[in-house]
Amino acid sequence: MANTTNDIKHVTSPLARQTLLDSQLTDPVAGKRPIRLLPWLQVVKIGGRSIMDRGRDAILPIVDEIRKLLPEHRLLILTGAGIRARHVYGVGLDLGLPVGSLAPLAASEAGQNGHILGALLAPDGVSYIEHPTIASQLAIHLSAARAVVGSAFPPYHHHEFTGPRIPIHRADTGAFLLADALGAAGLTIVEDVDGVYDADPNGPDGKKAELLRETNAADLAKFKGTLPIDTALVEVMATARHIECHSACKIDPVSRGIGVQN
Ligand SMILES: Nc1ncnc2c1ncn2[C@@H]1O[C@H](COP(=O)(O)OP(=O)(O)OP(=O)(O)O)[C@@H](O)[C@H]1O
Ligand SMILES: [Mg+2]
Repeated sequence: MANTTNDIKHVTSPLARQTLLDSQLTDPVAGKRPIRLLPWLQVVKIGGRSIMDRGRDAILPIVDEIRKLLPEHRLLILTGAGIRARHVYGVGLDLGLPVGSLAPLAASEAGQNGHILGALLAPDGVSYIEHPTIASQLAIHLSAARAVVGSAFPPYHHHEFTGPRIPIHRADTGAFLLADALGAAGLTIVEDVDGVYDADPNGPDGKKAELLRETNAADLAKFKGTLPIDTALVEVMATARHIECHSACKIDPVSRGIGVQN
């Protein structure tokens, strides 16, 4: 007699047998707020152009400030790319390189800046760690040390979005995405300005520029003119799950910086 036992195993899943393309079906399952992985973590992004490129006069005071924060805070310090990335964009654009080739070149410059900070903070037990380690072993590293340094540049690399030839996901966006994914307590972007102004304070009419003491993602999205942060960061702020930009101009004790808290 033929064996008629049906031994197919059905794995139950709230998303079984439905398309992932219909948000009305996925929202009841996927619309919930995610857990915070590292709610005690403070993420600090150090500007590549505004801080690291200026060498010891700008870097050493920041290193001193970070050192003072270590007994109280556990930090993920992420570095931007700076002038060397601008140079590599110039050479690569002139040669016709696509955005997916330019993004990893710029990212490697952000990593170089991270190695510099890691070396200076080594006596305090701080090391530079690569993205895969941030992704899978950050907690163990922060159990062994009060802080680690990494590259703020997101690893979209050859998957970088098309459109502008200069990668749209740069260091500010990368730092924000990581802080939000980790459910961090906050993100501070450290630059050479006290926060977001109504116009570039280092521009031709800089003397007239006024600091916006409070702002939010919606106001930044409507902002006309230049910002000291990536445009893509303003876009991801709108859908962030943990980090909110309700005090983008709060001056952080770390340095002159833009604090974005949850
Ligand atoms: N509305 C604005 N408010 C404040 N600063 C502004 C504004 N618009 C432009 N800026 C300028 O942005 C500069 C920061 O530039 P940028 O963001 O390119 O540097 P960075 O963040 O150090 O670089 P990187 O992205 O490589 O880390 C500030 O020094 C300031 O002059
Ligand atoms: Mg910036």
